[in-house]
Amino acid sequence: MKIARFSRIGFILAAAGSAVGLGNIWKFPYITGENGGGAFVFVYLITVLMIGFTLMIAEMLIGYVGRRDSVSNFEELAPRHKNLWKYGGFMSIAGLIIMTFYSPVIGWTFHFVLLSLGSLPASVEVAKEHFTTLLSLDIGTQIFYHTLVFLFVTTVVARGIKGGIEKLNFFLMPVLIVTMGSMFVYATTLSGFTQSWDFMFGVDWSKLTSASLVTAVGHAFFTLSLGMATILTYSASLPKDSNLVRSSLIVIALDTGIALVAGLTLFTFLYEYGASPSAGPGLVFISLPAVFSEMGVAGHFFAFTFFVALASAGLTSAVSLVEPFIQYLVDRFKFSRLKASVASGLFFYIFGIVAILSTSKEYGEILTFGSKNFFDWADFITASVMLPIGGLIMAIFVGHVMQEERVASVLKRDLGFFYPYWYFSLRYIVPIALFVVVLNLVGVLNL
Ligand code: TRP
Repeated sequence: MKIARFSRIGFILAAAGSAVGLGNIWKFPYITGENGGGAFVFVYLITVLMIGFTLMIAEMLIGYVGRRDSVSNFEELAPRHKNLWKYGGFMSIAGLIIMTFYSPVIGWTFHFVLLSLGSLPASVEVAKEHFTTLLSLDIGTQIFYHTLVFLFVTTVVARGIKGGIEKLNFFLMPVLIVTMGSMFVYATTLSGFTQSWDFMFGVDWSKLTSASLVTAVGHAFFTLSLGMATILTYSASLPKDSNLVRSSLIVIALDTGIALVAGLTLFTFLYEYGASPSAGPGLVFISLPAVFSEMGVAGHFFAFTFFVALASAGLTSAVSLVEPFIQYLVDRFKFSRLKASVASGLFFYIFGIVAILSTSKEYGEILTFGSKNFFDWADFITASVMLPIGGLIMAIFVGHVMQEERVASVLKRDLGFFYPYWYFSLRYIVPIALFVVVLNLVGVLNL
């Protein structure tokens, strides 16, 4: 079967589009705020460089050498115990689980795009009330936007890698970069910018707890789209003779750059108008709209720009979350693309509705298990459990299971002098770091 491959630039845009998502613009600023700023940012940056970079190359390699869906690639590249290793590829299911909460959040951004054209909440109290009402009472609005996201994402992925995903990224990535870039330039002219800079880069170790350490590592995975076969699946459609190292570096630079720019911009706006950076998940949906409202007419413009950027970032990541499973259905079960896209879409659509209901007043209680509701469980199980385990499997697979000649034949040229360091880090440093994270989790869970 002939599949249309990415162009070189198309791959980089799509991989960067996957990496840059709600994680960068929504999650990164608020977890930085909650975890005290500088020291947390520092740990996150180190993790991205030491673990993220090493692992991104490894994940790309599995796709690039294997050229098929994640399950087939693991099966084919394992020299023995193929039947066992193929289960490594099933991590792609994590993408659909992530989508059950990711899609409703993209839905919120749609809602706020519209809101920014009308009336913005006049104060933090009003904004809080608005957001709480949306979550706890306004099930209909949420399901409406979630349905739009489902239809949009399914249509794009049904058109395939080249005609759907690559096109979407060609269009939305420039929108995202221009909107975030111009807001950042404006932020640098405000007096809150110095405070924001100090908060993000002033390292105060006393603020770092072991919980924030684990959060930082977990986020490094989430933001780089590692550990669940997104990057693997995209790189199965890379043109021959691609340079995996250069691609990884560009994707990481864009992802990290946009996260830092988003953080600096948001905190500048918040400081400028006397709001606190540690507002939690409501940061961009509560504090920020209130700040925009205080800016007057310009605020509407900024709000519109910001939420369009956030929606764009979300959508380019969303397609990458469903694509791995679609590829699997198409490759292994000979599903047509349309059928595979609809099947995967319906999965996250239906469970997404469950996630929406689980935050509501009416159904919240029956959809809460232990300490978390369905929505939070989906987030926790994927970002904190499945992704680190997925990353651990990939590191062990490329570092200890695949024959070294196969690894070296692709990467020795591109990594050059760094090759032995990379290989060592993949074999020992990354697995140990991930193992510690996973163990810590077990401790957190009190198992
Ligand atoms: N990286 C995206 C973000 O920051 C989310 C995402 C897309 C993702 N694909 C992924 C996370 C694969 C983990 C694995 O929002």
